Amino acid sequence: MAEENKSSLDPLAALCKRRGFIYHSSEIYGGMPGFWDYGPLGCELKQNVKQAWWQFTVRGREDVAGLDATIIMHPRIWKASGHLDTFADPMTMCKECKKLMRADQIADILAEQKKKPVPHNPEGTLSCPYCGGEMTEPKPFNLMFKTVVGPIDDPSNVAYLRPETAQAIFAQFQNVTSTSRMAVPYGIAQMGKSFRNEVTPRNYTFRSREFEQMELEFFIRPDEAVEILHGRVVTLADNPDLNGPVQDDWGWEVWHKYWVEQRKKFLNAVGLPTEHFVEYWQKPDELAHYARACVDIEYDFPFGRQELEGIAARSDFDLSQHQKWSGESQMVFDDPLKQAAKKMDENAKAAFIEKVQADWVRRGKDVEAARKFCLNLFDGKYIPHVIEPSAGVDRLMLALLCEAYEEQKLVDEKGKEDIRTVLHFSPKVAPIKVAIFPLIKKDPDQDRIAREIFTKLQKKVNVMWDVSGAIGRRYRRQDEAGTPWCITIDAQTVADGTFTVRERDSMQQKRMTYPEFLAMMYDALEF
Ligand code: GLY
Repeated sequence: MAEENKSSLDPLAALCKRRGFIYHSSEIYGGMPGFWDYGPLGCELKQNVKQAWWQFTVRGREDVAGLDATIIMHPRIWKASGHLDTFADPMTMCKECKKLMRADQIADILAEQKKKPVPHNPEGTLSCPYCGGEMTEPKPFNLMFKTVVGPIDDPSNVAYLRPETAQAIFAQFQNVTSTSRMAVPYGIAQMGKSFRNEVTPRNYTFRSREFEQMELEFFIRPDEAVEILHGRVVTLADNPDLNGPVQDDWGWEVWHKYWVEQRKKFLNAVGLPTEHFVEYWQKPDELAHYARACVDIEYDFPFGRQELEGIAARSDFDLSQHQKWSGESQMVFDDPLKQAAKKMDENAKAAFIEKVQADWVRRGKDVEAARKFCLNLFDGKYIPHVIEPSAGVDRLMLALLCEAYEEQKLVDEKGKEDIRTVLHFSPKVAPIKVAIFPLIKKDPDQDRIAREIFTKLQKKVNVMWDVSGAIGRRYRRQDEAGTPWCITIDAQTVADGTFTVRERDSMQQKRMTYPEFLAMMYDALEF
């Protein structure tokens, strides 16, 4: 995004509306705060972002399987996960103007309004940022949307729209493990809608009430199992090679850092250079109750630096909770671990138990539980730990739009200034890959050849046909849509089959044959 536009989303939001990327949901009825629709270009961008994530995370690897679970699940899942009891924001209401807001966002709202005087109490944090009125005491407000399953509106039939896709992966862990025939370390990935009844949805599509997630739960051995298997646990201090193949002797810290690096590679591949985002390692007091470590990838949106995605090390918290609440074992059997443990004599086992107990006590855990855990390990059994890279489709789309948007000042040969609005999307996510223009609309040969190329390309990628207006205007229309290549069919095409390919960012034109263009395009689209 050009420097002068960095502080405001307005020009980008105007383009998104005008070109059909993003609309207010139910706009003809006045819209719904926190709900957004994607128009023709927006839904293509969304498909491409999701396909890129799936290719990078699932199909491009041998150790990740997919899942597509329901949005409404058994309500006990949310009891086990902690969402029913703890997934709440502190809500407060102005006693004067009756506006509802999150108590922890008042300071941000005041900061956003720095140009506007705040009545009565400009410094206050618990005065209304809109009218200065007194606020009510903040109360926890659960963010899950409630619904009723079946015809009887009774508390026993209450269910929830999922607030994250992750829990379905935990709930189906045993099914996927047995049907995919994969063994830990391996992952389960899911993309899909999630819902959070945000008190104050804000910042365009960034914090929406209905949104889409792309989550991977990557299950790993507990470090103690790695130690039995390999006699050591590789840590970050050992400087492991995170760019090469994954290794069986990695401990959880290394797996966590590995997935941070993987996520950065993915973001680079879809058009966010590393220097444009920040890797924030949460401090111990910032971690969620289930997390041993969490890295936020943050992006400088025009409304401030905000989390784009998180990579959390969740230990065995989730599967242990589901084991407890469902009564179903969430352990796996790891034969190589059992064989390695068989080689330990009784003294070695006793020393191992003692060491694990000392470590667990240091971490505030139960000494008897540590002993049972060790005995299970000797039998090759444990509840896997998990690393969770969790990304929001809508947030990533917004970051890609912000990153791609530019208003370029151009000066032609006669010194005339012009503004070119362009979206510099990576070809991998661009909604339209190629636009086809017959130079002269009424030339039957140009029209026929252009149609042939259009039809052939249409079977491979999203292609746009445009015959209206001067060629310069057609280019500008595609620049605003972020189309990387425009193909113009002219008299020379009729003579020798070559056509001009105009590249969006450089605006350079090159004559190419169809096979040359295909090779260049596929190269740019490949992960
Ligand atoms: N599963 C983590 C999240 O939804 O933020």
